[in-house]
Amino acid sequence: MAIKIFPLIFSIFLVSFQPYFSIGQTVVKGGYWFPGSGFAVSDINSTLFTHLFCAFADVNGQTYQVTISSSNQAQFQAFTTTVQKKNPSVKTLLSIGGGGSDVNTFATMASQSSSRKSFIDSSIKLARSNNFLGLDLDWEYPSDSTQMNNFGTLLTEWRAAVVTEAKEFRQATIDVIRSSSLLVILLLFLGWSPTSTGPPAALYDSVNQASGDKGVSNHGLFAPANGQGLAGDGSAGYNQIKQYISQNGATKVFNNTAVADYCYSGTTWIGYDDTQSISGKVAYAKAKGLLGYFAWHVGADDNWALSSKAFQTWGA
Ligand SMILES: *[C@@H]1O[C@H](CO)[C@@H](O)[C@H](O)[C@H]1NC(C)=O
Ligand SMILES: *[C@@H]1O[C@H](CO)[C@@H](O)[C@H](O)[C@H]1NC(C)=O
Repeated sequence: MAIKIFPLIFSIFLVSFQPYFSIGQTVVKGGYWFPGSGFAVSDINSTLFTHLFCAFADVNGQTYQVTISSSNQAQFQAFTTTVQKKNPSVKTLLSIGGGGSDVNTFATMASQSSSRKSFIDSSIKLARSNNFLGLDLDWEYPSDSTQMNNFGTLLTEWRAAVVTEAKEFRQATIDVIRSSSLLVILLLFLGWSPTSTGPPAALYDSVNQASGDKGVSNHGLFAPANGQGLAGDGSAGYNQIKQYISQNGATKVFNNTAVADYCYSGTTWIGYDDTQSISGKVAYAKAKGLLGYFAWHVGADDNWALSSKAFQTWGA
C-alpha cells in the first residue's frame, strides 16, 4: 500500500524582507489570502496581522502589464476596506505572480528596460486604483545568475518609481495615509521547493527511492515514502489535517530537534506546522533579528489557532 504524504500546510516561512521599501513599519506579521481558498475576506481576523497579501495579480505575457483577472476584480477591489474594518491599521498588498504563473514571462519582463517599465508603471497604477497600500512580487524563481541580475535591476527601478510616484501622489491628495509610498515586499522563499530542506519537503523528495514496506516500519522524519496522498501539489490545509487526525485517531509527534510537527496513521504520514513548530519558528525569526514572518495561507488556519500562536509568540 502506498504511503500517503501531505507536504506543506499552513507553513509560516521565515523571511528576510531585505527589499522592503517602506516607512516606519518595523514588524511584519503577514498572511496571504487567495480567492481559490474559498475563504471569505470578511472572515479574516485581521487583528492578527500587520500585513495581508491579496493573491494574485497576473503579468500579461505580451504587454508585461500587471492585471487583475475579471473574475477576481470585485473581491480584490474591496479587499482593503473589508479587512480594515476589523483592523484599520492593517497594510494590504497586491501580490503579483504565484507558483502557478509563467516563469518565462517574469524572466523576459525583467530582461528588458521597456518591459520592466510596463510592469512597474502598471503595478503601481493597479495598486492605487484598487486601494492597496503595497505590492508584493512572488516570482518563483529567478533561476540563474542572469535572471538574478535582472531581478536586481527590476528592484532598483521599482523602488525608484515607487518613491517618485509617492511625491506626485502627495501633491494630488490630502489623504495622509495614502500619500505615503507604496510598500514593496519581496518574498524570499525558503522551504517550498521540493529540493530544499524541511521535513515535509525532504520526505516529498525521497519519493523515488521509497518502498512502502520501509515506510510502514518507519514513521519518523526523513523516512522513505511512496507517493503523495492528494491530487495536485499534495497539500492539505491545517484545518483539514486537524480533521484527519481526529477522524483517524492519528498519532501526533513534535520533534524538538527539527522543530517539526507530523502525524501518522497507518501508511499515511503528514508533515505540517502545528502550534509548537509555529512558535519555535517565529521565536527563531525574532531571535535572528528578522523583520517578521508570513504565512501561506490564512484560509488554511483552524479557528485562528496558528495565526494567534504566531502573533503571540512574536509579541509586541
Ligand atoms: C480575533 O483575534 C483576536 C485576538 O487578536 C481575538 O481576541 C478574537 O476573538 C478573534 N476573533 C475571532 C472571530 O476569532
Ligand atoms: C527528531 O528527528 C531527528 C531527525 O531530524 C532524529 O534524529 C531524532 O531521533 C528525532 N527525535 C525524536 C525524539 O524523535
